[in-house]
Amino acid sequence: MQSPLPDSAIELLEKARQATSLVVWLTGAGISAESGVPTFRGPEGFWTVGSRNFHPMELATRAAFDSLPDEVWAWYLYRRAACRAASPNPAHRALADLETRLGDRFRLVTQNVDGLHLRAGNSLERTWQIHGNLDFARCSGSCPTLPWPMPATISIDWKKGQALDETTRDLLRCECGAAARPHVLWFDEYYDEENFRFESSLTAVEQAALLIVVGTSGATNLPMRMAHLARARGVPLLVIDPEPNPFSELTAGGGGVFLRGTASALVPEVCGLLN
Ligand code: APR
Repeated sequence: MQSPLPDSAIELLEKARQATSLVVWLTGAGISAESGVPTFRGPEGFWTVGSRNFHPMELATRAAFDSLPDEVWAWYLYRRAACRAASPNPAHRALADLETRLGDRFRLVTQNVDGLHLRAGNSLERTWQIHGNLDFARCSGSCPTLPWPMPATISIDWKKGQALDETTRDLLRCECGAAARPHVLWFDEYYDEENFRFESSLTAVEQAALLIVVGTSGATNLPMRMAHLARARGVPLLVIDPEPNPFSELTAGGGGVFLRGTASALVPEVCGLLN
């Protein structure tokens, strides 16, 4: 059967297939949209504490955690429950299959904290969650303990507005005794290598045969740096999104190809040509 992709995309993919260097994927909220993961800034992102309605951008900060730790945890447990209720879609599954086929030529850099790439079968080793993962916690202090999976006894059915109870609070502790915090990058924090693979993500682009960007609007720093670095180093870009955005603009003038459409329709097609 003939591929529905344009010749320009087929040519890029064929070159990447024959290369020996990395195929780097960069994904954002768009790849999980068809799994029904609620958007961060949508109405379901708001959280009421007493008589005050908090905007998600206010709660997703270290400052909020320091002053309202229980409320911030309850909001994350609710968001985690919404992600756990969603399932990987054909785009996630195609990327998990592709990693099996490409092995160490595969890298996946994701901004999504929903954990759907890992649940689809991608490995933690080659999936760099540059904004963290709601299924993990880490020490809120400065101890060197690595992020750990959330205790299995914590509810994955946390309701909107549900307050943190004592049992859950006790479970959310680091082995050093300090409080645990969600393993995410907050708006008043910076990317680093240890938790968020900042340098590794840029180095992977430098070593790539192709950078494929799926479902992200270009609002955050590291993803845009990766795309600009690709452009500067002559690494072609393949951008998949229903709407034009700063990444698709970088494909103009020989930078690569923009495929306008949804992740679940296009990612499996693209993966099929990297076989
Ligand atoms: N398939 C592919 N892309 C889609 C789909 C779909 N079915 N539906 C929507 N999109 C695209 C949108 O057109 C948009 O370009 O996904 C992108 C989503 O953009 P954002 O909501 O801004 O998500 P993202 O870029 O991942 O956000 C970056 O900002 O909210 C913070 O830290 C949070 O990681 C997040 C970061």
